Amino acid sequence: MAGTDIGLDKTLAALGVTEAAQIGARFEQVFASFDGQLQAIHDESAWKLFRDAWLGRKSGVLTQITDNWLKPATPELKRVVGQKLNELRAHVESQIEARRAAIESGAEEAALAKERVDLSLPGVIRPIGSHHLIRRVFQEIEDIFVSIGFSVVEGPEIETPYYNFEALNIPEFHPVRDDMDTFYIELPKGAPTPLLLRTHTSPMQIRTMEKQKPPVRVIVPGKVYRRDNPDATHSFMFHQVEGLAVDTDITFCDFTGTIEYFVKQFFGPSVKTRFRPSYFPFTEPSVEFDVSCPFCGGTGASNGATCSKCKGAAWIELFGAGMVDPAVYGFVNYDAKKVSGFAFGIGIDRLAMLKYGIDDIQVFFQNDVRFLKQFP
Ligand code: PHE
Repeated sequence: MAGTDIGLDKTLAALGVTEAAQIGARFEQVFASFDGQLQAIHDESAWKLFRDAWLGRKSGVLTQITDNWLKPATPELKRVVGQKLNELRAHVESQIEARRAAIESGAEEAALAKERVDLSLPGVIRPIGSHHLIRRVFQEIEDIFVSIGFSVVEGPEIETPYYNFEALNIPEFHPVRDDMDTFYIELPKGAPTPLLLRTHTSPMQIRTMEKQKPPVRVIVPGKVYRRDNPDATHSFMFHQVEGLAVDTDITFCDFTGTIEYFVKQFFGPSVKTRFRPSYFPFTEPSVEFDVSCPFCGGTGASNGATCSKCKGAAWIELFGAGMVDPAVYGFVNYDAKKVSGFAFGIGIDRLAMLKYGIDDIQVFFQNDVRFLKQFP
């Protein structure tokens, strides 16, 4: 405390104050000292020390002034000292109380500010993902076939040439293998069989029939691979859903009826289907299914111009299918004389593109959120 500088420990007489006129200056010093110290008081603990230093009963500044200046003062000076002392006390008490209030409310404010939850602040927005369109189309197709008694099975993407080709009636030098050039896995010398990435989901026809006796009704969603250069309609990896139904009495009518049911469920009741002769080594007869163009209503024209989706053809090629070739039953120990059935292989990417008006297959694999977001 600045008490000693101001002479609080001495009497006024010792300080050489003998006239009332000198007293004002003395007190001014005390006021100035108080005001100066007050500026530095910002928290509760400093405030308490400060309060005791000035108002403490035993040795506070006001007590010192009372004891050292007022009490020993001559009667003439006493009146003035008493008056100044009262002014000082009023000032000190009111300022100390004001500072206490300020510190208290300031501390409260700070505490509040710390705890306050600002509900207007934007939260942490976590983007919510959605199913990929391919996944969704898989699901749509699975739901349709499950509703008519098919079960869903899955199989390996790494296959042996036996399942991918031979057991499907595609011997090693069959020209069809050219269309299904694929990727072979590098294996250590002496490996029992080469391994390849399956070119279609048809190997699962064989694996399913090996495992179970007729009746068989399965669909097989999955990834397939071919040695293709990527462009708007080709990708070295794409997706298929295989279908297989084998029983003792399955007819060509069951086959086309099932496919027609599926296509109408998938594209809507107004589309028509047709089939054309085709060729696959593992089906006989083989067909290619077409759907009437869902974009131009099967007219080949839209808004007076040639429909850009079917290029005016009114029909869009959908997928390959056929009645299971009896030769295939020979590979799975089914009696070709007793059973019959049909199979189909739906290209999912193509179907998704058709249904959702997408003209580049690559967007499925680029994972650009601007694309993905369009199918929330
Ligand atoms: N696996 C054939 C393909 O990928 C499609 C198909 C499947 C054809 C089943 C007939 C029967 O091209």
